Amino acid sequence: MFVGRKNELDSLNRAYQKDTFQFPVMYGRRRVGKTTLINTFYKGKKTVYFVAVQSTAKENLTIMSVQILPFLHQTLRRTHFPRSGKLSTMYLKVQKRNESSLS
Ligand SMILES: Nc1ncnc2c1ncn2[C@@H]1O[C@H](COP(=O)(O)OP(=O)(O)OP(=O)(O)O)[C@@H](O)[C@H]1O
Ligand SMILES: [Mg+2]
Repeated sequence: MFVGRKNELDSLNRAYQKDTFQFPVMYGRRRVGKTTLINTFYKGKKTVYFVAVQSTAKENLTIMSVQILPFLHQTLRRTHFPRSGKLSTMYLKVQKRNESSLS
């Protein structure tokens, strides 16, 4: 059961309501409830969730793209995205699917 954190949730929701770009940063000791707060905040909202890994910018961009791309077009939801692999391969796959859905 989620308890408390009203101020923190209010603060995140205020940022969410704004129509300008927002970049809230959350930090705190281990096991203090950061992930739980994020999960509670995004419930019922259209969300792309991406956890960065300690690696290269390129790999992080690939992982983030895999999370975002299926939202871009309904047909993409049926596309299988490999967890690893070249970004260019993935784009080609998306392009092919779009072409076939248009013809
Ligand atoms: N508001 C809350 N109400 C009830 N339980 C909570 C709350 N926030 C966190 N918890 C519980 O506390 C534990 C730690 O929470 P959580 O994993 O969100 O912490 P964290 O800050 O993300 O930790 P880490 O730094 O390890 O990633 C979990 O078992 C979670 O269920
Ligand atoms: Mg966490």
